[in-house]
Amino acid sequence: MRRKTTRCHLAHAPPTATMQPVSDLSGKALHDANCISCHDSAVYTRAERKVQDLAMLGAQVRRCNANLGTQLFDEDLDKIVVYLNDSFYKFPK
Ligand code: HEC
Repeated sequence: MRRKTTRCHLAHAPPTATMQPVSDLSGKALHDANCISCHDSAVYTRAERKVQDLAMLGAQVRRCNANLGTQLFDEDLDKIVVYLNDSFYKFPK
């Protein structure tokens, strides 16, 4: 029985979902590469949106990252949070 030595799913990822573990990418680039396979940015501005403050935004981004399995680094997630807040939510910092 051959053992699977890697849990990496990169080989199956579509080109737009390229994982960028150590990145100089902007929050927007990270977001556009990783976060629009399930929903587009319309969820951030919909009338019944769930996220009501910056803490909730951070928590939701981490929840979605966990669903995604992208294993983005914390600093990447923080950049995405800043991007989403600057572009859509505009919560006071
Ligand atoms: C595996 C599918 C999936 C991926 C990939 C995904 N999300 Fe989500 N996201 C969801 C679902 C499902 C919801 C909840 C939608 C709802 O409640 O109607 C959601 C909601 C959100 C919300 C809250 C919107 C609101 O109501 O205010 C934010 C913010 C968000 N996602 C950010 C992200 C970010 C950032 C990424 C990339 C790291 C990401 N998502 C990737 C599935 C995903």
